[in-house]
Amino acid sequence: MYRSHNCGQLRKENNGEKVTLSGWVHRRRDHGDLIFVDLRDRYGLTQVVFDPSDFKEAHIAAEDLRSEFVIKVEGEVRVRPEGQRNENMDTGEVELLVSEVEILNRSKTPPFEIDHPQDANEEIRLKYRYLDLRRDRMKKNMVFRHKFVKMIRDIFDELDFVEIETPMLMKGTPEGSREFIVPARLYPGEFYVLPQSPQQLKQLLMVAGMDKYFQIARCFRDEDSRGDRQPEFTQLDMEMSFVEEEDVISINEEALKKLFAKLVPEKELMFETFPRLTWKEAMSKYGSDKPDLRFEMQIKDVSDLVSSCDFQVFKQAVTDGGVVKCLKVEGGAEFSRKDIDQYTELAKVYGAKGLAYIKMTDEGPAAPILKFFTEDQLAALIERAEAKTGDIIFFGADSFEVVCNALGNVRLACADRFELRDPNKLACCWVVDFPLFEFSEEEGRLVSAHHPFTAPKDSDLELLETDPKNVLAKAYDVAMNGSEIGGGSIRIHSPETQRKVFKALGISDEDVEIRFGHMLDAFQYGAPPHGGIAWGLDRIIMLLQDEPNIREVIAFPKDSKAKDLLTGAPSALPEATLTEMNVKNIL
Ligand code: AMO
Ligand code: AMP
Repeated sequence: MYRSHNCGQLRKENNGEKVTLSGWVHRRRDHGDLIFVDLRDRYGLTQVVFDPSDFKEAHIAAEDLRSEFVIKVEGEVRVRPEGQRNENMDTGEVELLVSEVEILNRSKTPPFEIDHPQDANEEIRLKYRYLDLRRDRMKKNMVFRHKFVKMIRDIFDELDFVEIETPMLMKGTPEGSREFIVPARLYPGEFYVLPQSPQQLKQLLMVAGMDKYFQIARCFRDEDSRGDRQPEFTQLDMEMSFVEEEDVISINEEALKKLFAKLVPEKELMFETFPRLTWKEAMSKYGSDKPDLRFEMQIKDVSDLVSSCDFQVFKQAVTDGGVVKCLKVEGGAEFSRKDIDQYTELAKVYGAKGLAYIKMTDEGPAAPILKFFTEDQLAALIERAEAKTGDIIFFGADSFEVVCNALGNVRLACADRFELRDPNKLACCWVVDFPLFEFSEEEGRLVSAHHPFTAPKDSDLELLETDPKNVLAKAYDVAMNGSEIGGGSIRIHSPETQRKVFKALGISDEDVEIRFGHMLDAFQYGAPPHGGIAWGLDRIIMLLQDEPNIREVIAFPKDSKAKDLLTGAPSALPEATLTEMNVKNIL
């Protein structure tokens, strides 16, 4: 027998019991006569003591022990003397006096110390992920993730949803990213595609009459990794039949609230009912389609106040059909020249040409652009911005998108500076009424804002052929603390509407047939009205665990360059394998 208890289990009630523990040597302290080892397993730490006056052989063996050796110890539990108890340790009231020790396995000196996580850089941590996962932080994240997923399954099971697995080897899905492809050995020149999401299959499950589906689904997208993105990530994917936007939204809002209440009770849920913002409102007021509502700092439109001012930049923006907006930052009058330059650079990243400002100093408003405004115009701007002494007002003048994006990002940067983004608060909201299409500069055509199966608003159906840019979608995103944690929509279930959408997207009939023929076929056999959503599971867990990066909540993630540093993937394959797979190495 390797153990009678685990390393997090013993309490003073076990005093006097003979027990066996197995685990890793976390720390070893040699006090000359006494040797102390903190023995670790997934459940915790227990102090074990080797005392030569009681058990000489065990003490001699303990001299050989080093960090991360795997050992088995037998001995008697005793309550630690007063003054030597450790309140920070679950087992801190007791220790184990070891009578016998067996080394089960030795360990090389680890590349980083398990209890000094800060020391290791991420590259080393990912290369030795199995050691990294021994650390408390990672263990906590993995267990939390398990509990989160388990609770999702319970919640949706309770609501009569059925979890159904969908294939990984399939045909491409138009979710907007580049896809990972798998050569098909039996069909030279042909490929499977790894799914960007189970989107099409979950819709087909609705056609199949499954009514309520969910899946903890792995998704693959060959896009640049970022702090909140992985090429391979997990969604809670769900779909329901005979529903409208409201049904999907309310079921998901309730599920999220249940999860938060149970799993992060220490966090303050700011809005018991998640606020709803239209996409236009979210962009106008917060400069983002995933607004961080933990703090106010709203962006305000001042186009009407500056349309006839002498500042050419502002005037021209309005004349050209653009907008001028402002962002008041409380306490911002203290910003130095350098600070303002930095915010200006940030605004430029998002396409802005500059970032005009007015500082509200003790001596009154101050700024190089003051000379362009009459006293009345200035007073009106300050009033609209609700600025007072000590504040700064930033301005953006450009197209709606550029101004919103630029000021939205300056808003977040200023909130960071004044520590307004409190990780102990959860601010969720729904963003609704997204445009169905957006214009892709890169491709020079309209692309789906969500995906091509998203239904247009009934009232906008007419516009599909005449004015597609202004069609709104039955789409909704759920955002939390400035991150998009989920997105979904009511789907098109009529083949005619689906064809019109493909047409607006500029996909030829022939291409539609090749890529989506199976969907259009299915829609001809009694497709029920349906809709659903997918949550970015890794992202939610990252936010709830206060982790700065999605990699911290994934057991074996890819690094920021999409490499698996542990196994070395991707890697070359033997020529013979390539030949068998009909793949030609052109390098
Ligand atoms: P969407 O593409 O919006 O919708 O994805 C849903 C959610 O998944 C998360 N997410 C990601 N998380 C980590 N790494 C990534 N690369 C990544 N990409 C997306 C986001 C996002 O909100 N089939 C539709 C859902 C539907 O319509 O029902 C879909 O996949 O949190
Ligand atoms: P300039 O006239 O280029 O010297 O700019 C005067 C001020 O206006 C500077 O603070 C610029 O950052 C700012 N500015 C220039 N273009 C824009 C713009 N499109 N939107 C907002 N501010 C701008």
